Amino acid sequence: MSEPVSTNITWHHGAVTRADREARNGNRGVILWYTGLSGCGKSTIALEVEKRLFDLGKHTYLLDGDNIRFGLNSNLGFAPQDRTENIRRIGEVAKLFVDAGIIVATAFISPYRADRDRVRALVAPGDMLEIFLRCDISVCEQRDPKGLYKKARAGEINDFTGVSAPYEEPLSPEIVLDSGAMPVDACARAVVEYLQEHGYI
Ligand code: ADX
Repeated sequence: MSEPVSTNITWHHGAVTRADREARNGNRGVILWYTGLSGCGKSTIALEVEKRLFDLGKHTYLLDGDNIRFGLNSNLGFAPQDRTENIRRIGEVAKLFVDAGIIVATAFISPYRADRDRVRALVAPGDMLEIFLRCDISVCEQRDPKGLYKKARAGEINDFTGVSAPYEEPLSPEIVLDSGAMPVDACARAVVEYLQEHGYI
């Protein structure tokens, strides 16, 4: 899948390196890959972490699932092959951000382990931190901020994650947050502390 269709193409190395950019930015480039069910708090926590990092003077950007589906991935739906392509494109975009020395956060359900592993394989060890937001589906369903679980239960949405499509939990995520029970503030603090303790910022 990752083999280009194009031939006669050459990879060009820039005169400004990733290390140069990281040194100026004051942080390492890294992907904060949030994963979990719809309604588990991915966007909310990612936004809070982004704000805290920004306030610390760090260079950060958030790629949010719903937003990206309005633009870059507007031609993709929720069938398994579309989700795989969704995650592949986001992985490639996130990789560019890492090279730019930016802390890039991605908030996608990303339900398939193989898709997430493929992103991990795109970047160097330590360049992707998988953040699993563990939240029981009953809690997500109770929150139901967009009313989508209700629709899915009523059979109005097909392939809905957790209802009629699978979610494969990460086997060894760098960070696990019990977002069903922990307040947003505590979750965000845990992520920022991880970055500090591991020398990313
Ligand atoms: S992913 O599975 O490909 O990673 P993504 O994070 O981009 O999904 O989009 C999920 C969001 O799309 C959900 O939060 C929800 O708002 C919306 N959505 C619409 N249809 C579905 C569906 N069938 N399954 C899951 N989410 C859906």
